Amino acid sequence: MASLPGPRAVLLTLLSLLLTVLLGVGLPALLGGAARALGFPDTGVAECIVTFYLLFVAYVAAPRLPRGRVEAEGRAVLVTGCDTGFGHALAIHLHELGFTVFAGCLMKDKGGEGAKELEGFHSDRMKVVQLDVCSEEQVQKAVQVVNENLEDKARGLWAVVNNAGVSTFGEVEFTSMDTYRRVSEVNLWGTIRVTKALLPLIRRAKGRVVNLASMYGRMGNALRSSYCVSKFGVEAFSDCLRYEMKPWGVKVSVVEPGNFVAATGILTREAVAGTANQLWSEAPAAVKEDYGKAHFEQHVALMRSYCGGGEKDVRPVLDDITDAVVSNRPYTRYNPMEPKWWIRVQLMTHLPAAISDILYF
Ligand SMILES: NC(=O)c1ccc[n+]([C@@H]2O[C@H](COP(=O)([O-])OP(=O)(O)OC[C@H]3O[C@@H](n4cnc5c(N)ncnc54)[C@H](OP(=O)(O)O)[C@@H]3O)[C@@H](O)[C@H]2O)c1
Repeated sequence: MASLPGPRAVLLTLLSLLLTVLLGVGLPALLGGAARALGFPDTGVAECIVTFYLLFVAYVAAPRLPRGRVEAEGRAVLVTGCDTGFGHALAIHLHELGFTVFAGCLMKDKGGEGAKELEGFHSDRMKVVQLDVCSEEQVQKAVQVVNENLEDKARGLWAVVNNAGVSTFGEVEFTSMDTYRRVSEVNLWGTIRVTKALLPLIRRAKGRVVNLASMYGRMGNALRSSYCVSKFGVEAFSDCLRYEMKPWGVKVSVVEPGNFVAATGILTREAVAGTANQLWSEAPAAVKEDYGKAHFEQHVALMRSYCGGGEKDVRPVLDDITDAVVSNRPYTRYNPMEPKWWIRVQLMTHLPAAISDILYF
């Protein structure tokens, strides 16, 4: 362990002592007082621990508290990446709720199926917009379309959902700099570009920014560095923006889905096969020799196994994004994921790395 300078070591020791005293003495006294006031017998340390644990379990298991909802009528939302997956389903869902939806589609101008299906609604409230989040020009055009089509310009745009994203895999030594750039270009810089372009309209509405990160925006994993880097960036950007937007009345939320690969188009077996071929053919000779084909194939098989796995229904993600858009008090973070992934995120973000590393790697 790195040596601590004197004053820091003293402060750390004092803080530990203070916490020990507070938790060991103050907490039981506080709970004892509360228990007596409620007519229960005096409370000891063991009861305190059990009570806290039960409160924690109740907090985790409790259904979302009702916090009031905004009216959808007359409000508009822009969603990126509506060709497939969460974005496509969300555009339809928000439209059903009564919002005017600007559905950004990457493949609209190329006759993409997802865009066509949304255009097929023939609804004044479903406006399909060509939108590659990597293109400054297309983002500016989309803002223009929003401006021209807002029912009440003075009211602004209620929300943007930055959903467009791409995923890939590969160990660091197999991942090219181009891949790192490409993934962040969509997931991170795309999110920032679209948000910056729409913020003036969203500030006017005192509206919402909802960013799709991932459980991999909270914890790293082997083979996923390019994706994790981009999603950690989305988390950081969202936090900074949330602090800045507070005085403007704009709420910023992050949605961190777990594994919904089977439910969307984010990672298909074909994509895994294609990426595997590319990774192996482009890897430096020395890397191939050191890692070996058997090791490489093992990792590809692991990624392939994820393709059919995870949640098969996008509903939990839609519910959380919708809550972030419509609730009067949206949460800062939403974690739609299977319990095993939720526990893993908690352990990896709260335990010392020395312990979580042993548990998971
Ligand atoms: N599914 C999961 O397990 C999971 C887990 C955690 C987080 N997420 C996140 O959830 C979001 C939605 O993903 P999804 O699972 O619904 O996958 P998806 O079905 O692949 O949807 C992503 C959409 O983004 C579009 N897109 C890609 N590059 C774009 C660009 N430059 N500009 C605009 N749109 C672009 C894609 O279009 P094309 O199909 O034409 O490429 C696709 O329609 C992503 O941010 C993803 O990282 C997903």
